[in-house]
Formats: sequence, C-alpha cells, structure tokens
Amino acid sequence: KKTALIMAGGRGERFWPKSRKNLPKQFLSLTEDGKTMIQLTIERISPLVDINDIFIATNKEYRDLVLEQLPNLPEENILCEPVGRNTAPCIGLGAIHISQKYEDALMIVLPSDHLIKYNSMFTNTLTEACEIAAQNNNLVTIGITPDYPETGYGYIKFNPDHCLGRAFEVDRFVEKPNIEVAKEYLATEEYLWNSGMFVWKVSSILNKIEQFMPETYQGLLKIKEAIHTEQQDFVLEKEFYNFESISIDYGIMEKSKNIYTIPGTFGWDDVGSWLAVERIRKSNEFGNVVSGNIITINTKNCIIEGSRKLIATVGLEDLIIVDTNDATLICDKNNANDIKKVLETLKNCN
Ligand code: GDD
Ligand code: MG
Repeated sequence: KKTALIMAGGRGERFWPKSRKNLPKQFLSLTEDGKTMIQLTIERISPLVDINDIFIATNKEYRDLVLEQLPNLPEENILCEPVGRNTAPCIGLGAIHISQKYEDALMIVLPSDHLIKYNSMFTNTLTEACEIAAQNNNLVTIGITPDYPETGYGYIKFNPDHCLGRAFEVDRFVEKPNIEVAKEYLATEEYLWNSGMFVWKVSSILNKIEQFMPETYQGLLKIKEAIHTEQQDFVLEKEFYNFESISIDYGIMEKSKNIYTIPGTFGWDDVGSWLAVERIRKSNEFGNVVSGNIITINTKNCIIEGSRKLIATVGLEDLIIVDTNDATLICDKNNANDIKKVLETLKNCN
C-alpha cells in the first residue's frame, strides 16, 4: 500500500515579502499555470497514491488554506500541528496516522514547495524508491547531482559499489555542511544533494524514531492512542509542545544505517530563494524577469515583481525588487539568502 505525507508547515522565509507568515511559499503560485506549489505537489504524486491516502501535515493556522486549495482531499487527512517543531515531529505525526489506518504501509514523504520539470520521470524514480523501501527497514532518499557548493542542503555520500537496482547504499548523510566542507564534497563527486524526499515503511521510520528520539516516540504513541477520541486535540497539543524541534535530517538521517539513495533526474528545483525565479520564468532581452506594472530603463539582470503600483527603475543591475501592499524589498542578488535576517529583525521589533 502506498501512502504519502506532504510536509506543508514551513514559513518560506527567503521568499519574503511575497511569502508571508499567513501565506507561505507552498500556498503561492510561482509558475505561469497559476497553480500553487502544494497543488502541483498533489498533482505530481497522484499517479502513485490515491487521494484518500495522501496526508498533509501543516500548522493549524494553515488548515483553511489547505482545505481551500485542495478541495478533493478528505478533511481528516489534514494533520494539524499546534506548533511548528520542524520535520521530525511532523513525519512522526504522519507515520502514526498512517499506521492507525493501515497495518504497515509505504510512506512517501514530500516537501510541498519544490518544482519538478519532468513528472513522469519523477513517478518512475519514486516507484523504484518504493521497491527498495519495501525491503528490510530501508530508508530511501532521492538524491540530486550537485552543481555548486550549496550550504542549505543535506549531502549524501553514496557507495557506487553497493547498489540495489538503481539505488546506492549511503555511507554518510551530512546535513547543511559549511562552505569549505560543501566545496570539498562537490570536488570528490561522491556526494549527492538530499532532495528532502523520502520513502520508507511506516514501521521502519517509527523504529528509527524510537531508537534516536525515544521521548518523541513515547509522545507519538500517546497521540496515536487518542486519535478518534474526545481527548484527541488535548493530547496532541500537550505532547506536541514538548517535542524537540529538529529536522528529520539531523534527528534521524545523519544517525541511521540502512539508507539508500536513488539519483533523481527529473528537473528538481527547491525554489530556495528569489533567484529561483530566473530559472522558472523567462528573462527578457536585458536579463530582467519582471511581473506587474514595470518600466525599466537601462536596467539589467534584475528580478522585479510589483503588485498594484507602477515600478520604474533606471540604471540598475543585479537587484531583486519585490513590492507588495504593505512591504517592499530591495535586495542585492548576491545577498538573496539573507532575506531571512529581515524577518529576524522584524521579530525583534515586535
Ligand atoms: N508540517 C510541517 N511542520 N512542515 C514543515 C515544518 C514543520 O514544522 N518545517 C518545515 N516543513 C516543511 C516545509 O514546508 C518544506 O516543505 C519541508 O518541510 C522541508 O522543510 P525546509 O525548512 O524547507 O527544509 P530545508 O530546505 O531547510 O532542508 C531540507 O530540504 C533540503 C532540500 O530542499 C532538508 O531535507 C535538506 O537535507 C535538503 O537538502
Ligand atoms: Mg526547503
């Protein structure tokens, strides 16, 4: 039995000011088809998983957004976290809900805010991943061939001599290395990026959570017992607040054995910052990617996104300019990853 858990509780901070606390990246449309990223995610996994077996884990704040954007999804498949505790508790919550429904199912874990170019290759890769995950207690992650030393990703050292079909055994999983280490990994050609998509049996991941995050595991069991009872919300709230806030990558993947990776060649983009817009939309003859009511004079290689106001630029180069109703961003392209710092500053002001 194949099921899916879509992780949709992130804040999408590097996409500020278009991505906001009350409307993060996964609920926005960044492509020309007008579909939001979470809608595209569901569409992409639909050939493999029945809609009744797709679960969405998100913050309770976003429940209505999910309902509105995914009207065909059964309401009870929206798993609401009372507070964000990162992806390990999110995946744990998904696993116990699936285990409540099925004895032991395969669980495909997907982020909700990535873009993929070739959907049928994506389906093929996940089908293979399911075959590997069905054996033993294998944890399978989809790897991507790196082309620059990104420090925001996990790195997977694969063993080219040990494979199962198209999957390689993983020697080491390193989450978000620093730039020196990332450069070293890139140079060896023995590493793949972790795409953040995983496949495993529910029992396999629950075993790992029991082993490496025993307190979280105990809390998850209590949440499971309370499912479909009057106590459900109360227990969920109480236990979830106590969970350690940690990603699956740090909490489980860096520590586990029996990990396999399948290289994915389906045109993956995690839309990590505003710079991704240049890959998604076509730039004009001056290298600008513009949307809205924009006049550019002697302006090159800029990303400009307006809302209602006219934006005119004169003599600019390599800038990101995003105007919304209540906030305007003007950012040097080389600093696109630091947009998060604006939000830190804002939080400190409140
Ligand atoms: N439900 C829920 N709750 N979802 C969450 C939470 C949470 O507390 N935190 C994050 N998510 C969702 C995000 O919306 C996103 O879809 C996904 O989980 C991954 O979270 P990110 O915060 O975007 O992770 P990351 O980008 O720093 O790192 C992960 O992805 C990289 C590839 O994009 C890791 O898996 C890296 O190893 C990987 O390289
Ligand atoms: Mg991400």
